[in-house]
Amino acid sequence: MTEEKKDDNLMEKIVSFCKRRGFVFPSSEIYGGFANSYSYGPYGTQLKNNIKKLWWKKVVQERMDIVGIDGPIMLNSKLWEASGHTSGFNDAMVDCKKCKKRFRADHIVEEATGKDLEGQLEAMTKVLKEEKVKCPECGESDWTNVREMNMMFKTEMNGYYGDVYLRPETAGAIFIEFKNIIDSMRVKVPFGIAQIGKAFRNEIVAGNFIFRLREFEQMEIEYFIDPEKDWETIFENWTIFQEEFAMALGAKKEDLRRYEHAKEKLSHYSRKTVDIEYRFPFGFGELFGLAHRGDFDLSQHAKFSGKKLEYFDAENNRRFIPHVIEPTFGLDRSILLALLAAYREEKLEDDSERVVMKFPKYLAPIKAAIFPLLKNKPELVAKAKEIYNSLKMEFMCEFDDNGNIGKRYRRQDEIGTPYCITVDFETLEDGAVTVRDRDTMEQKRIKIEELNSFLKENLK
Ligand code: GAP
Repeated sequence: MTEEKKDDNLMEKIVSFCKRRGFVFPSSEIYGGFANSYSYGPYGTQLKNNIKKLWWKKVVQERMDIVGIDGPIMLNSKLWEASGHTSGFNDAMVDCKKCKKRFRADHIVEEATGKDLEGQLEAMTKVLKEEKVKCPECGESDWTNVREMNMMFKTEMNGYYGDVYLRPETAGAIFIEFKNIIDSMRVKVPFGIAQIGKAFRNEIVAGNFIFRLREFEQMEIEYFIDPEKDWETIFENWTIFQEEFAMALGAKKEDLRRYEHAKEKLSHYSRKTVDIEYRFPFGFGELFGLAHRGDFDLSQHAKFSGKKLEYFDAENNRRFIPHVIEPTFGLDRSILLALLAAYREEKLEDDSERVVMKFPKYLAPIKAAIFPLLKNKPELVAKAKEIYNSLKMEFMCEFDDNGNIGKRYRRQDEIGTPYCITVDFETLEDGAVTVRDRDTMEQKRIKIEELNSFLKENLK
């Protein structure tokens, strides 16, 4: 039996673990760092790719009603006028005049007074000044007025006159391909278009590791529906799908909750918006979002482009602008969830301790590690390399002959490798190897020729 220890400093541990074991590095470190940006290291990149693969499989591959695309990051700026981002994608900021730190005004006001004044600039300024709200950084109360700041990053492009923006969400690139998808694919409403990719937001305050970034990745779907048919069931099914996806990343059901946006706070076109929140170490935070957006996006793009963005229902000889339900998934937040949920410190029966990442096996960055029992026995090394070379054609594998077997197990436990395969002297006699399970630490002998099918069966 192993004993799990409760973790009070989980976030700090994950941040340092990620750097030490090659999952996530602070970016530009040799130049003194660069404002809340991170690089995914070799194991983090594998984990990220496995999450994307899982999402794509569940959303695109396994469904008949969703197609996938991959659009550009820089797009015609009219798109952002039509979507309302140029004028309305703003956050409220305020500066502390004493320590010069900048904050999200609505967050500061809500934390200090419990008042939700989002979007009300003057009211926020009044509360900050009259109620002498203290700066969380220096403790003084000397604020500038609250101002709005557009969150899109602006750039320039040769041959294009006017501002070019880095997309603040992947959704825009989906809507503008609606017509191409209708014309080129045999889709029938209800159907969806999915995309995974980078998005950029000039967040006033980024932080909590990879939770809030200025450059991040989203996995989004625009699901087009008939406005005259039941939308509630479709909406509920997407909510369940999002919860199940979070659980497939390792979340426990009790660490998830639905947060439904108040009706009076919804955009005029939205019938319902729900966030799926996860209990991060710093509190519940938005993991995924789900919104009914009516026909706002297609109507706006039709108006601004002058192109008809309609669907023709041949069976009923009806033409209409579909409504859309938008399930959106943050990839970096999914990775953070998977890391937090997998991390365990265990005390073993012999009183030793181990750190083990209990990722679901299909998410593990490395699927199997292959060891020769002894480094200085060429026949064992050769056999282990032969097995490694064969398995790596199908699975992400590592070869390790460094240190004693116990240490090699610990190294692989730490990065969450489900299986360690050891070649010993018996292997040369009976053609079998010792396979050790990450979670139970049980060992069993398996014939070399059965390894491939064993892994295939057990990594699902
Ligand atoms: N198209 C809808 C949309 O973009 P959103 O709630 O603004 O909706 C969707 O973003 C998801 O993207 C969020 O649920 C979150 O997981 C992720 N996300 C948003 N801002 C982020 C940021 N600054 N850093 C990391 N992830 C972010």
